[in-house]
Amino acid sequence: MKILFIGDIVGSPGRNMVQEYLPKLKEKYKPNLTIVNGENAASGKGITEKIYKQLLDWGAQVVTMGNHTWDKKEIYDFIDDASNMIRPANFPENNPGKGIIYININGVEVAVINLQGRTFLPPIDDPFTKADELIKEAKQRTNIIFIDFHGEATSEKQAMGWYVDGRVSAVVGTHTHTQTADERILPAGTAYISDVGMTGPYDGILGVDRESVMNRFLTSMPVRFEITKKGRSQLNGFFVTIDDKTGRAKSVERILINDDHPFFI
Ligand SMILES: [Fe+2]
Repeated sequence: MKILFIGDIVGSPGRNMVQEYLPKLKEKYKPNLTIVNGENAASGKGITEKIYKQLLDWGAQVVTMGNHTWDKKEIYDFIDDASNMIRPANFPENNPGKGIIYININGVEVAVINLQGRTFLPPIDDPFTKADELIKEAKQRTNIIFIDFHGEATSEKQAMGWYVDGRVSAVVGTHTHTQTADERILPAGTAYISDVGMTGPYDGILGVDRESVMNRFLTSMPVRFEITKKGRSQLNGFFVTIDDKTGRAKSVERILINDDHPFFI
């Protein structure tokens, strides 16, 4: 099983990069499953139904979310019909949507789980206990389990990686918008990266217009953050190959496409 993951898609610059490069990445890596994080896809905050459908049209099979899940209020109207979207599974039980999805790839099932950290993020249910619960459920059906762990703190993400090592195929961190160079296969077979990074503006600050972010630091006053639409763009991703029977990761690769790291087939 080959899985391609694209990190946090930020606004229209991120969506344009997915539209342009996802076909090329598919040609290069030939993934069986493509997962994208879409929680920043609409102007940096949340997702709309139109954008969700576009991401599927462009080749994503699963869209994961995070702390901005509910930012675009229209999501309440479509999340329960968005069968290929998952939001963090450790949101309170009464939240709409779901946190785990099973995708059938030519008779081989893959479980994809979305979880969210609690360090420097709003208080929600314990992601570690929720991981135990969902891994137990998923293991009844498949050994191939992929987790998008949306979190701010590298320590919490590393803890999750080690906590589930050998029980899932991959744990990829999202949310910080900055790719980490710590991709590896943990000793019991779980592929891991602390953060995949983001897909969107390359010359902003985490995707946001850099003047407004610098102003915030210079004045300590509230500033409206807008996604920068000028300048260059980037795509950050992760590619993992997995043994279908055991669910163990066989290889991992970080994907970085920008002017300093040009794309080659
Ligand atoms: Fe986030």
